[in-house]
Amino acid sequence: MTTQRVAIVTGAARGIGAEVARRLSSDGHAVAVLDLDEAACQSVVDGITAAGGRAIAVGADVSDEGAVKAAVERVAAELGAPTILVNNAGIIRDNLIFKMTVSDWDAVMAVHLRGAFLMSREVQVHQTKEKWGRIVNLSSTSALGNRGQVNYSAAKAGMQGFTKTLALELGRFGVTANAIAPGFIATEMTAATAERMGITFDDFKTAAAREIPVQRVGEPADIAHAVSFYASEGAGFVSGQVLYVAGGPKD
Ligand SMILES: NC(=O)c1ccc[n+]([C@@H]2O[C@H](COP(=O)([O-])OP(=O)(O)OC[C@H]3O[C@@H](n4cnc5c(N)ncnc54)[C@H](O)[C@@H]3O)[C@@H](O)[C@H]2O)c1
Repeated sequence: MTTQRVAIVTGAARGIGAEVARRLSSDGHAVAVLDLDEAACQSVVDGITAAGGRAIAVGADVSDEGAVKAAVERVAAELGAPTILVNNAGIIRDNLIFKMTVSDWDAVMAVHLRGAFLMSREVQVHQTKEKWGRIVNLSSTSALGNRGQVNYSAAKAGMQGFTKTLALELGRFGVTANAIAPGFIATEMTAATAERMGITFDDFKTAAAREIPVQRVGEPADIAHAVSFYASEGAGFVSGQVLYVAGGPKD
C-alpha cells in the first residue's frame, strides 16, 4: 500500500509536468498543480478530480521568491505538508552563442536553477520536519552539450550538480534527491522547436526517432513513470542519481 503524500509539480499545466501530476495522483498522492497561470492548471486539476484524486491549482512563478513562499504555504494549508517535489518548470531560449542575448541567458537560468533552488529551499522545511521527502529534478540530455543551447545545457548540467548536493545535505533527514534527464519528448516545447526550424512536428519526430535506439520519440508518460519510481517509498536508498530516459544510452 502506498502511503499518501502531498506532491508539488512545477510547470504542470501541460506537457511532462501535467502527466507527472496525473501519475502521482494515480499513485495515491494529493497533488498541487503549479504553473505560471493558475487558470491554466485547472483542466489538469479537473482531470485528476474526475478520476477520484485530490488536487489544487496553484499559480506561481518559480523564479519569484515571494511567490514560491506563498505557494508552498498555501499547499501546506490546503493539502498538508508537501514532501514530494518535482522541479519540472522549464523554458528554452535557443540561439547560437554569437546571437544569444543576456536576457535569453538570464531567463533560462532563472526558471531552471533559481526556480529549483527556491522551490527546494521552501519544501525541504516540510520534508526535514516530516523526516521523509523526495525531490525529483528535470535535467536533460542537453546537459551533455547541444548546439544552440549554451544557456539551457548549462542550466540542465547545473541541475545535476544541484541534485547531488541536495542528496548529500538532505539524506540524513530521510529525503532523497534525484534527476531525470529526458531525451526527445513530444510536448509543446519540442513542437515549438520544430516550428522555429520551419518543419512540421511529425517530420521532426520522425527524424528524431531514426536516431534513437528504440526508434521512437518519448512521451510524457515515459518521464512520469521514472518520477513515480523516484517518488516511491521503496526508492529510499536511491539518491543523487541521474537517470537518462532517452530510448538509449547517454553519458
Ligand atoms: N520536451 C522535451 O523533449 C524535454 C527534454 C528534456 C528535458 N525537458 C524538460 O522537462 C521539463 C518539462 O518540459 P515540457 O516539454 O513539458 O515543456 P512545456 O513547455 O510543454 O511545459 C513547461 C511548463 O513550465 C511552465 N513554466 C515555465 N516557466 C515557469 C515559471 N517561471 N514558473 C512556473 N512554471 C513555469 C510553462 O508555463 C509550461 O506549462 C522542462 O524542465 C524541460 O526543460 C523536456
